[in-house]
Amino acid sequence: MSNKRNEESWNKLSDHYQAAQIISLENVHYNPYGPGERELGIIGDVKGLDILEVGCGGGQNSIVLAKWGAKSVVGLDQSEKQLEYARRLAESVNVDVQFVKSDMEDISILGDATFDLIVSMHAMNYASDIQSVFNECARLLRVDGRFVTCMNHPIWLVFGEAMEMNDLSKIVNYFRNEREIWDWTDYNGDSIATFESTGWRLAQIINGLIIAGFRIEGIFEPKGYTREEIETLPTESMPYRESKDPYYPFVDTNQIFPNSIIVSARIEK
Ligand SMILES: C[S@@+](CC[C@H](N)C(=O)[O-])C[C@H]1O[C@@H](n2cnc3c(N)ncnc32)[C@H](O)[C@@H]1O
Repeated sequence: MSNKRNEESWNKLSDHYQAAQIISLENVHYNPYGPGERELGIIGDVKGLDILEVGCGGGQNSIVLAKWGAKSVVGLDQSEKQLEYARRLAESVNVDVQFVKSDMEDISILGDATFDLIVSMHAMNYASDIQSVFNECARLLRVDGRFVTCMNHPIWLVFGEAMEMNDLSKIVNYFRNEREIWDWTDYNGDSIATFESTGWRLAQIINGLIIAGFRIEGIFEPKGYTREEIETLPTESMPYRESKDPYYPFVDTNQIFPNSIIVSARIEK
């Protein structure tokens, strides 16, 4: 198991990524151009909880959870550059979050039953083995602890690009069982870094959580905001967006099927 390529690539991409997105420090974000936690109410009250964010990136969600009254927040990521950004950001807004470097598939730096809540947004598709991540999250949670994770919806991974490009030849085989290698490009279409990811099937997500010892409490498939809403809503209600013009084929496709799936699960120990 090695996620080295993604680690190096996130180090290369971090500056561009953080400049290219506007990510709220007042609302927990799920998918781009979609509603956040204030609108969806999935995580709920975090006051007094010990929280871990897995794949925290620039730390924005960790910072929001700390502001909302968590007892402690740890943000975990394998990219040192992302963590550097997160540390600077937390310091600049005077919020106390501990940021640690680890691969999410082996979080042995943290002890068993340490957290009441684990959240993870848009990191799971980078994992080479999602079951290892779920097992680690189960181990790290206390009795009755909760795990809320948001990742690419399997339906999006099959039809999203075809719909955006109006090209049926871009439909992807749901049963593909391979790691995908792809480039993140800048505004000129030049590659910044090469990533690998896996399009987890619904059964792998749901059964993986059950195998790790979770009881699924809810599945959420948020519809993205419309073009009109995007032009009028304040940043706090749309906590994740591009700093340049929205990519409207994405926005329009997200009116027809969900970009992300969010699962809320409770550990049964
Ligand atoms: C798309 S970013 C999302 C960041 C943050 N969760 C957010 O929503 O703003 C994905 C993050 O996952 C991290 N990541 C990818 N693979 C990882 C792994 N195996 N272990 C830990 N972090 C990982 C990357 O370094 C990156 O910061």
